[in-house]
Amino acid sequence: MDLLEIKAINTDVQRWLTKAATNLRQHLNTHFQVQTKSDRNDLVTNFDKQTENFLVDQIRQNFPNDKIVSEEGFGDQVQTMQGRVWFVDPIDGTLNFVKQRNDFAMMIGLYEDGRNVLGYILNVMTDELLWGGPEIGLHLNEKVQPLPLDQPLAAGLFGVNGPMFAYNHEHVRDIAFASSGARILGSAGLEFQQVILGRQVGYISRLAPWDVAAGKILAETAGLSVTTIDGDPLDMLKSQVVLVTTRRALPEVQKIRQS
Ligand code: IPD
Ligand code: CA
Ligand code: CA
Repeated sequence: MDLLEIKAINTDVQRWLTKAATNLRQHLNTHFQVQTKSDRNDLVTNFDKQTENFLVDQIRQNFPNDKIVSEEGFGDQVQTMQGRVWFVDPIDGTLNFVKQRNDFAMMIGLYEDGRNVLGYILNVMTDELLWGGPEIGLHLNEKVQPLPLDQPLAAGLFGVNGPMFAYNHEHVRDIAFASSGARILGSAGLEFQQVILGRQVGYISRLAPWDVAAGKILAETAGLSVTTIDGDPLDMLKSQVVLVTTRRALPEVQKIRQS
């Protein structure tokens, strides 16, 4: 894909996100239909479904040959990363959306033959859109976003998954104790935003493909490391424990985990 095509796609995606987020904000005080999925805190609402349906529909109308991985069932059964693959998480942080009407994100990631192309994390309530990719750089709304400082683990806050922290699964509690302090936001997208904006030195959680796809593109564009807990490259089509950190914090986290 050349730069011209990437820029044209970027204009489309930003228009879709603006439309979908405006619609969500307008309906915040209406009645939500809430259903549970795998457990009582794994929720889906009519707005998750409507938003995913809208975004997937836009992709299909504009790019009928592309494949789509998405959370609520409107996408495709994708078996390989060959060609162009889109990842859609219509509402990331649905529990926050339902309980707080705040702190949730909309995310889109685009890959070509497994390579990063474009990533978008929109904090719907603050309207902060972090977007970009290797060809077009990193941006926060209309401004170019400076890259985060390469801070060591002890110098910054560390985002964690609540249960992993509570049970010290994969040494997550030990890792957080070695940082300045643990943070739990309830949205993988907003956690990635914090690390990319230089407000946290890292984040660790078990994540599905749509939870991590946009964040990986943006974090790698920002010079951060995104790997599995074992330091391996991610498999973009499966759930896994994902670690995003500054380059300096990565060996420190690995050392704690191996201790
Ligand atoms: C969830 C959030 C949460 C993370 C979960 C995700 P959802 O996404 O990102 O922070 O801990 O693993 O499933 O279900 O609200 O889109
Ligand atoms: Ca979701
Ligand atoms: Ca999610």
